[in-house]
Amino acid sequence: MPNQLQAEIAIIGGSGLYEIQGFAETAVVDIDTPYGKPSDVITVGELFDVPVAFLPRHGRGHRINPSELPFRANIYALKTLGVKRIVSVSAVGSLQADYEPQHMVVPDQLIDRTRRRDSTFFEDGVVAHVSFADPFCPGVSTVIADGAAGQGIPTHQGATLVVMEGPAFSTRAESNMYRAWGGDIIGMTTLPEAKLAREAEMCYAVMAWVTDYDCWHPDHDDVTVEMVVDNLVANVANSRIILRHIMPELAALGPCDCQTALTNAIITDRRRISE
Ligand code: ADE
Repeated sequence: MPNQLQAEIAIIGGSGLYEIQGFAETAVVDIDTPYGKPSDVITVGELFDVPVAFLPRHGRGHRINPSELPFRANIYALKTLGVKRIVSVSAVGSLQADYEPQHMVVPDQLIDRTRRRDSTFFEDGVVAHVSFADPFCPGVSTVIADGAAGQGIPTHQGATLVVMEGPAFSTRAESNMYRAWGGDIIGMTTLPEAKLAREAEMCYAVMAWVTDYDCWHPDHDDVTVEMVVDNLVANVANSRIILRHIMPELAALGPCDCQTALTNAIITDRRRISE
């Protein structure tokens, strides 16, 4: 009989995605971790007969701002539930004309513009440097992109996501600078989430939904919360459809390099830790 508190796949819901229709909940888990409490209780259940854990990143009711998210507690808690693959859902601004509001983007690269977040599990006497050249799991990314395209949703696979600190949106000069750097989309939450997932040897990929053109586009208004929320409604409905459809494919994915990321990454001499 499956353990009702374990799931190999997790969904981290972004703004607006606080529950998933068709999700047959079997347990509500209130976990404490060495890094404190996660953003909210984690629900474990089945989606399309696949065991899944669901965590709303900002807490139900959107209570936690990006800089204050308990990223380490979230990833640690999912790891303790046996999660091996994470689908992270996120709202982003577009830095390129072709990436229109309500399009879905599966990024393959990141630029880190965060400033005040705890972004590693390795400290206090343990030194490890995981490889992060390719920050997202290619297998999970392809399942997400193919699943979205299969549902007729305009989808872009392979893009550079700039992650900024926030909570204020970018200035126009910053927005243009990110474009010049090669940024395609911009958000506030994928880091350090992706880095911590890699350190925890979990596959991680992002389903990023475009809500606005930030503030660089001469023909579009500058981003406002109202604009983000207006597009979120359609984006959340589409995420639910895709998530349901991709579960069997995610469950069928085999072993992946993400799940052995720590092999040769820890350089602290373990014998000395216990001396
Ligand atoms: N999330 C949605 N739109 C955004 C933007 N323009 N900048 C940063 N994060 C966002």
